[in-house]
Amino acid sequence: MALWRCILAAVFLVGVTTVNSSPTMSSYDTIVVGMGAAGTTAASILAKAGKRVLGLEAQNRVGGRINTVPFGDGVVELGAEWMHGTKPNTVYDLAVQNNVTVLPQDISMEVYMSDGSLANKELVNELTEFCLQVVDEPPPTPQPLGQYITKRLMDYIKDKHPTLLKDQGFINEFLAFMDLMIDNYEATDTWNDITTESKYRVLDGHQHMSWNKNGYKTLFEILLNTYKNGPGLPTLTIKLNTEVSQIVWPQDPSQKVIVKSKDGAEYSADNVIVTVSVGVLKERHSAIFSPPLPQKKADAISHLTMGLLGKIILLFPAQWWPKEKLFYGFMWKPEDRANVTDETWSLRLTAASNPMGCKHALTMWTSGEVGRLVETLPDDVVKRKAMELLRRFMGANVTIPEPISMLRSSWYTNPYTRGSYTYDNLSSPSHPTAREDLAAPLSDSSGRPRVLFAGEATETNHFSTVHGAVGSGEREAARLLPSSKI
Ligand SMILES: Cc1cc2nc3c(=O)[nH]c(=O)nc-3n(C[C@H](O)[C@H](O)[C@H](O)COP(=O)(O)OP(=O)(O)OC[C@H]3O[C@@H](n4cnc5c(N)ncnc54)[C@H](O)[C@@H]3O)c2cc1C
Ligand SMILES: *[C@@H]1O[C@H](CO)[C@@H](O)[C@H](O)[C@H]1NC(C)=O
Ligand SMILES: *[C@@H]1O[C@H](CO)[C@@H](O)[C@H](O)[C@H]1NC(C)=O
Ligand SMILES: *[C@@H]1O[C@H](CO)[C@@H](O)[C@H](O)[C@H]1NC(C)=O
Ligand SMILES: *[C@@H]1O[C@H](CO)[C@@H](O)[C@H](O)[C@H]1NC(C)=O
Repeated sequence: MALWRCILAAVFLVGVTTVNSSPTMSSYDTIVVGMGAAGTTAASILAKAGKRVLGLEAQNRVGGRINTVPFGDGVVELGAEWMHGTKPNTVYDLAVQNNVTVLPQDISMEVYMSDGSLANKELVNELTEFCLQVVDEPPPTPQPLGQYITKRLMDYIKDKHPTLLKDQGFINEFLAFMDLMIDNYEATDTWNDITTESKYRVLDGHQHMSWNKNGYKTLFEILLNTYKNGPGLPTLTIKLNTEVSQIVWPQDPSQKVIVKSKDGAEYSADNVIVTVSVGVLKERHSAIFSPPLPQKKADAISHLTMGLLGKIILLFPAQWWPKEKLFYGFMWKPEDRANVTDETWSLRLTAASNPMGCKHALTMWTSGEVGRLVETLPDDVVKRKAMELLRRFMGANVTIPEPISMLRSSWYTNPYTRGSYTYDNLSSPSHPTAREDLAAPLSDSSGRPRVLFAGEATETNHFSTVHGAVGSGEREAARLLPSSKI
């Protein structure tokens, strides 16, 4: 085996100095595993500082949980869609510095009822605002978020709208609607899986800034210096379709880190930055790391929770919905809900929204267990049910045409993500350092960091976001190169 390789190499590779497999294994300063937001940020910073960087990406594209896809007259996002806040936000700053137009999306919501009528707008908006404000006033001891909001809301209704107490059916359906909206942001099954004691911190500024027709993919063009035909980064090599299967990390300071890919190639470097999702780490860390991860790191991975947010995106021949809103929410009436006896997953399609990058598209949202189920259903079933829902809720005064085409996300089925992003569940307050423990590097016997960890989940206050992922890439690049900047 080794012998025929040498012979072939001698015959065909005369004059070629680098061969990407042993024995003449090419060596890098840093190998980055995964070219999502975190990995691409770290690779960009290190390469701009002149480091020789190799980015290994299992999928056939960079971007990871950001995936901009051409659709209709523009683009849609199967993954991240908005910048949640602008101050301070490296992602927003990069867009502005490069003169990319990013636009705030109107945050108003229109809520439709299951009998085709419009919900009482003032009341629903007032109650929604109250619930969102309560999230920022957590109780002294952690509780399930849903229970806490429900209790606070009931007190508020008793005080402000006592007559509403006679309509328990409406109150229940409003609570179910709030539960779904919050699940939609947290990627959860129920708001009672979420702890009130989350360490997530909201950035200042507009919470729904869109890359519109440019698409979130522009972030990667900027980071890789290919935006507007930029020349790229000379010391960065990216290999797509290259799944990392093993990372061998040394105790001996004189040895390199060896990274093996599924196709049999081996690469070596002084250090490696691992950015794969917690979903992937849960499934594969014991196969990937040699020697195995220390117990503290393995525990952190098992304590963190990966949620699922899903999108069903429909393209129509023309816009038939009324005005540009952020969300067109669906609120059931108790008697209509009782009548839904099969395909009950459709009760958890939250809302529709018009993506800014594509005029004639509507996105419908799913989360948690139902989101995972929907990924396994055939296209025709999902499309039929989505259309049934749109016509039931939004079709009272308009004939809704059949969609021209449909795109769906599959972040749970995808073996390279296994979910959308992490959230803090009811057990999180008992494991308060899980994210820091995941972020801690593995060092050799001289104390030098050799395996570093970045990614959304490693950010204590900004997990679940692109700015969190980018921040984690900056953090780990700085660990290797203290004076570096993006
Ligand atoms: C549907 C959805 C909507 C979202 N909406 C928003 C939003 O509006 N705003 C926001 O801020 N955030 C949003 N997010 C979250 C945001 O997308 C993520 O937090 C962020 O993109 C994560 O980046 P990352 O670099 O940590 O991980 P990833 O993007 O997952 O990058 C890791 C990379 O590693 C690769 N990989 C995995 N295994 C291997 C392997 N064995 N070998 C080599 N490579 C491997 C993966 O293919 C991937 O490219 C959303 C996410 C989803 C899924
Ligand atoms: C952005 O626009 C300003 C003003 O027009 C210009 O000075 C600057 O060079 C532009 N920057 C980039 C990166 O194109
Ligand atoms: C439909 O039109 C009627 C009459 O204009 C209006 O009262 C009602 O609110 C509309 N319903 C929806 C769902 O837009
Ligand atoms: C929280 O998530 C972790 C990791 O997925 C899981 O082990 C734990 O059981 C969850 N806790 C609760 C209360 O659901
Ligand atoms: C429930 O479904 C049945 C059968 O489809 C129908 O006859 C009935 O009118 C429905 N009830 C409501 C309240 O929609």
